[in-house]
Amino acid sequence: MPRLTDKLCLITGAARGIGLAIAKAFQAEGAQVILTDIDQAEGEAAAAALGGRFIPLNVADEAAWEALASQVPQVDVLVNNAGITGFEQGYIAHDPEHASLEEWRRVHAVNLDGTFLGCRYAIRAMKEKGAGSIINISSRSGLVGIPGAAGYASSKAAIRNHTKSVALYCAQQGWAIRCNSIHPAAIMTPMWDAMLGDGPDRPQREAAMVADTPLKRFGRVEEVAALALLLASDEATYITGSELDIDGGLLAGSAASPG
Ligand SMILES: NC(=O)c1ccc[n+]([C@@H]2O[C@H](COP(=O)([O-])OP(=O)(O)OC[C@H]3O[C@@H](n4cnc5c(N)ncnc54)[C@H](O)[C@@H]3O)[C@@H](O)[C@H]2O)c1
Repeated sequence: MPRLTDKLCLITGAARGIGLAIAKAFQAEGAQVILTDIDQAEGEAAAAALGGRFIPLNVADEAAWEALASQVPQVDVLVNNAGITGFEQGYIAHDPEHASLEEWRRVHAVNLDGTFLGCRYAIRAMKEKGAGSIINISSRSGLVGIPGAAGYASSKAAIRNHTKSVALYCAQQGWAIRCNSIHPAAIMTPMWDAMLGDGPDRPQREAAMVADTPLKRFGRVEEVAALALLLASDEATYITGSELDIDGGLLAGSAASPG
């Protein structure tokens, strides 16, 4: 029996990377999938290849969420996946001393405002049924400090906490609307291209990036999608307000601990 039969699932930032892998995994389990993204061309192509529906959506735009609500007034699963590091156009200072307020706000607008607006939409679109699953893609960076990407880390930490507020609020209302966060460490997606480059030293840069990861490799998008699938399904009906790490063991210990 497919695990998401009859469920309508909407995923943000689904044109590529983790979001697209989640869309594929959900569809393979019988869900009706709506892909959304700010990148209309890539999103439409991805949805066409999948046989799913695409709706353009900039998650930081409140009016766009309201327009979405009139198009899709009811939903069973929402994955707030869209996110940016701030390094999409190349290196810009994001450390606590040199980051500009404009850059700080740009990252928070997509990652945090986008997740807040997504959760608000989902609660309203799930409450009539009184059930649903909201899955927020945070990060390992939401659990530890990241000196070179302070805005990203701050926004992902706030997603972790807002997830718990949403979970408790929905439980207080007597709804079986669950809300959980997923915390991936390094997962190989196009997000890394700006940081790893495409030069001959890319394999060394990749290896250096995961040198402290106990499993010594990047994660795969399918591995994150498998976790999202669990949270979306009715196998997870007692899981809410939880944070699930998927990090190759990175957070299990400390690089500073004695061998
Ligand atoms: N890849 C990793 O190592 C990693 C680790 C931890 C967390 N994450 C998180 O996972 C999520 C997906 O990351 P990814 O690696 O697949 O990234 P990606 O860059 O490959 O894909 C992100 C997608 O989001 C879309 N997007 C960007 N801004 C948007 C906006 N304002 N509105 C709607 N869509 C927008 C992009 O067009 C793109 O399709 C992000 O929230 C990211 O922070 C990724």
